[in-house]
Order: sequence, then structure tokens, then C-alpha cells
Amino acid sequence: MLELKNINKTFNKGTPNAKQALHDLSIHFRPGDFVSIIGSNGAGKSTVFNAIGGSFLVDSGHIVLDGQDITFMPEYKRAVHIGRLFQDPLRGTAPNMTIEENMAMVYLRSNKARSIFGISSKERDFFRSKLQELGLGLEDRLKSKVGLLSGGQRQALTLLMATMTTPKVLLLDEHTAALDPATADKVLELTQNIVKAGNITTLMITHNISSALALGNRTVMMNNGSVILDISGDERDRMTVPELLELFKEKSHTTLDDDRILLTND
Ligand SMILES: Nc1ncnc2c1ncn2[C@@H]1O[C@H](COP(=O)(O)OP(=O)(O)OP(=O)(O)O)[C@@H](O)[C@H]1O
Ligand SMILES: [Mg+2]
Repeated sequence: MLELKNINKTFNKGTPNAKQALHDLSIHFRPGDFVSIIGSNGAGKSTVFNAIGGSFLVDSGHIVLDGQDITFMPEYKRAVHIGRLFQDPLRGTAPNMTIEENMAMVYLRSNKARSIFGISSKERDFFRSKLQELGLGLEDRLKSKVGLLSGGQRQALTLLMATMTTPKVLLLDEHTAALDPATADKVLELTQNIVKAGNITTLMITHNISSALALGNRTVMMNNGSVILDISGDERDRMTVPELLELFKEKSHTTLDDDRILLTND
């Protein structure tokens, strides 16, 4: 489904600030995988997402999405197939545009038949029904400016927009980390529902170790630009948080060094 083959990436190559962020990284994500990704600060987690999304070209290696080699495909073309959410709820939506205008914009990108002049009543109904699924009352606020929404509402809307036409893969980079705990739980619940309904292959970077074990079907640990642990099935079902931390220590010869690490749900 999504395959990364021997990916290398060094930033600031040939300068004293050179930093190899990805080391010969290979991993294969299967259709419908929901993968939690954890690792220390600077492990290369976001860099993997940037490589998949096409924020830069990798130095060597190949990226294959659904049988197509996208290694050299420009970012804007990949964006049609790849949904992305970031930690910052302000990214991903335009604050001065209304909810329906924001939704129409992403709809236009994936639906070439759509008119760029105004929003039809059929489209408005579709947007309304989609918003209803969030259960946040946004379906009655189609003409509200997005800048007026709370962080959680905005992140939920971004999630909806990223999945409105089912992407081949959804990349979530700590997308609930900036929200208060109750709102984070709500957005996580919505994420699970949307991912399940669309059977969307999903990669989620998280600092919450227990949700990394509880959510989805696979947990990947990164350190120093490489995958050091990749567990699923029975092995994962049996794994506890302390065991996972111990494994990290064993494999990386260091403790999980993360200033925002969360070991429990509370
Ligand atoms: N555009 C860039 N230019 C230079 N260095 C970069 C760039 N992006 C990432 N790096 C470096 O690459 C390494 C990996 O960074 P990355 O952002 O992928 O870490 P991360 O695992 O997402 O960490 P965090 O948990 O803190 O978000 C770090 O040393 C970082 O400083
Ligand atoms: Mg990061």
C-alpha cells in the first residue's frame, strides 16, 4: 500500500550543520493499517511524514503509494491522495473563509467537475451532512468564519476536510497534542470513527504511549532516523507501557527522551 524503501535524508548537507534525519529507513504499511508512531524528540517522525507528503525530495530510496512510485512526484500532486493534520489547529483551514468555503475549496481540489462559482445547494447539503457526523453542531454554522471556531472544532473540521474524499493515506502529526484533554479525546474518537468508516490507511505520531498501544493495529518506534521497533498482533496486544519503554531502552541504548511524553490517559 505505502512502501518506504531505504530512505535517506540529510539536512544541510556539506555544512557544519549537516544532520542525517533518516537512515536507510524501510517500512511497509498495509491497506487499512492504523499505525501509531512514537519516539524521542528529533527521532525523525515528522521528517518521515514530510518525505511521504513531498515537502522535500529524499536523498536516496523510493516511496511507493498504491503501486505508484511517488518518489519524485511534487507535493501538490501527492496532496490529492494524502490527507495531513498537524499539531497546530490553525494549519489546514483558512480563518477568514467560512466553514462552507473551506470545505468547497478542498472539494474543488479533488472534484474537477465542481464549479468554482459559488456553492450549489446540493453541495451545501453534502457539507451539512458531513458536519453533522462530527456531532459538534457545526452543521448550523456553515456561514461562520473558521477563525471563530475553537481549536478542537477547527481540528475536527480539518480532519473532516482531509477525509471528505477518502485519501489513500492519512498522516496525523500529533494532531491532538495542542488540545485540552477532553477535546483531545473527542477528536481522537472522531478520528477512529472516520478512519474506520473509510478503512483509511492511517499513520499517527503521538506522544501518548498508552494510546499508541491502544489505538489502531500497529505500533512503530523510531530512534535516530530509523525504525527500531514495529509490533502488531498478539505481541502488541500483550504489551504493556512499562514493557514498551523497556524495549525502547534495550533497542536504542537510551531512555525515551521526550519532554512531552504521556504515559497514561489522565
Ligand atoms: N527542515 C529541516 N532543516 C534542518 N533540520 C531539520 C529539518 N527538519 C528536521 N530537521 C532535523 O531532523 C531531525 C528530525 O526531526 P523531526 O522533526 O523529524 O523529529 P521528530 O521525531 O518529529 O521530533 P519531535 O517529537 O520533537 O516532533 C532533528 O534533528 C531536526 O532538527
Ligand atoms: Mg515532530
